[in-house]
Amino acid sequence: MDIVLMGAPGAGKGTQAAKLEKELGLKHISTGDVLRDEIASGSELGKRIAAVINNGDLVSDELMLSVLKNIVAGTKEGIIFDGFPRTITQAKMLDAMLVQLGRKLRKAVAIELPEEVVVERLGERKQCKLPDGEIRQIGPDFSQEDCQKQGGKIFMRPDDTPEHVRHRLAVYHQQTEPVIQFYRQNGLYAKVDGNQDPQQVFESLLAVIKQ
Ligand code: AP5
Ligand code: MG
Repeated sequence: MDIVLMGAPGAGKGTQAAKLEKELGLKHISTGDVLRDEIASGSELGKRIAAVINNGDLVSDELMLSVLKNIVAGTKEGIIFDGFPRTITQAKMLDAMLVQLGRKLRKAVAIELPEEVVVERLGERKQCKLPDGEIRQIGPDFSQEDCQKQGGKIFMRPDDTPEHVRHRLAVYHQQTEPVIQFYRQNGLYAKVDGNQDPQQVFESLLAVIKQ
């Protein structure tokens, strides 16, 4: 069972995908994390990616697909796609890739959240970089104290400044919202209210996924 988790920047995709991964035994693939891992590797490709994503723009469809293809092909479990597809072209590429690999998309679920809440949440979001390079999000499961105790460093994502968040939202409206219509047309679309506490969002997601 493969699931697409959609929603504006800061809607709670990463938070919920991690919970769904545990609950349903699926593999969580965040394309944002995949790209940030490439940046962290220090490669030439990573440097080109950093210039794009730190500015809040999307990397090209071709690059995204080439990075993602091997990961999906090497995954046996069902997948939760977090932050992919983000354009109509990517949605069509995903369809083709899943057919080729004999996989099937069960649902494309959007987490909806008012923009003022997005700006507020992302303005407060903190991350922790652990000594082994792992990045953890500060939240109910991992506090700032946990980070410090493990020798980690607290930082904010470079694309979480208010002006970058506004730009990411504009990119979302222009390039990613049309994907909702794509999944409406093929009957896979569902949405949940992201403006509830994380456990309630999780239960809403489980309910629509199981429908
Ligand atoms: P990506 O990393 O996917 O960023 P995003 O879509 O902007 O979303 P975020 O990760 O910021 O938010 P989220 O929805 O995961 O929310 P979270 O759970 O963290 O992509 C980054 C960049 O990579 C893109 O801008 C683009 O450049 C590039 N990229 C990625 N995919 C691409 C693609 N397919 N094609 C091209 N380029 C691509 O929650 C946010 C905060 O809110 C956290 O602090 C969390 O603790 C808190 N929170 C979560 N839920 C709740 C709740 N219910 N109540 C209160 N607080 C909550
Ligand atoms: Mg995320």
